[in-house]
Amino acid sequence: MIRKAIHSDFPKLCKYYKEFDQSGVDLFNRGPFSNLLIYEEENEIVGFINYSIMYDRAEIDYIYVDPSYRKRKIAYELMEFCIEDATTSGCQNITLEVNEHNVPGIRLYEKFGFQKAAVRPKYYHGEDGILMIRELNKSE
Ligand SMILES: CC(C)(COP(=O)(O)OP(=O)(O)OC[C@H]1O[C@@H](n2cnc3c(N)ncnc32)[C@H](O)[C@@H]1OP(=O)(O)O)[C@@H](O)C(=O)NCCC(=O)NCCS
Repeated sequence: MIRKAIHSDFPKLCKYYKEFDQSGVDLFNRGPFSNLLIYEEENEIVGFINYSIMYDRAEIDYIYVDPSYRKRKIAYELMEFCIEDATTSGCQNITLEVNEHNVPGIRLYEKFGFQKAAVRPKYYHGEDGILMIRELNKSE
């Protein structure tokens, strides 16, 4: 089940978040455009996605799945939810940055039609970031 995060989710989300980013950003205080959704299985939080919808564009900030629940399409469902939300909100595109060495992340995004748009040199503690974009709501 995917649902909006509430404040009692905070300790578990912090634990997950710190596993892959030490910057200490408060996931609950990322501004009025930010959405924080969690994936719950049998009352356990096993993953989350954080994205922003800013008028006509969307940006994925983080997606994370507990290691013992990976490769079960949980990230896939979270991505589907985010893309549906951005599409119905009228966004023109979704962007994100991913570490150049993060193969699971890049493969996940490519699976949803994201394409590499630019390199952000030294974006991740000395490692390059890749800016990826997926166009939405294109009438062809
Ligand atoms: C990336 C991550 C979110 C994937 O979560 P997941 O629930 O295991 O992914 P899913 O089972 O939904 O897989 C969906 C697709 O992602 C890709 N993928 C996921 N894990 C992968 C891996 N280890 N290697 C290669 N591709 C992978 C595949 O394309 C997969 O589709 P497929 O199974 O049909 O091949 C997870 O590995 C994670 O939390 N990593 C740490 C945080 C992170 O790096 N987040 C991304 C940057 S913010």
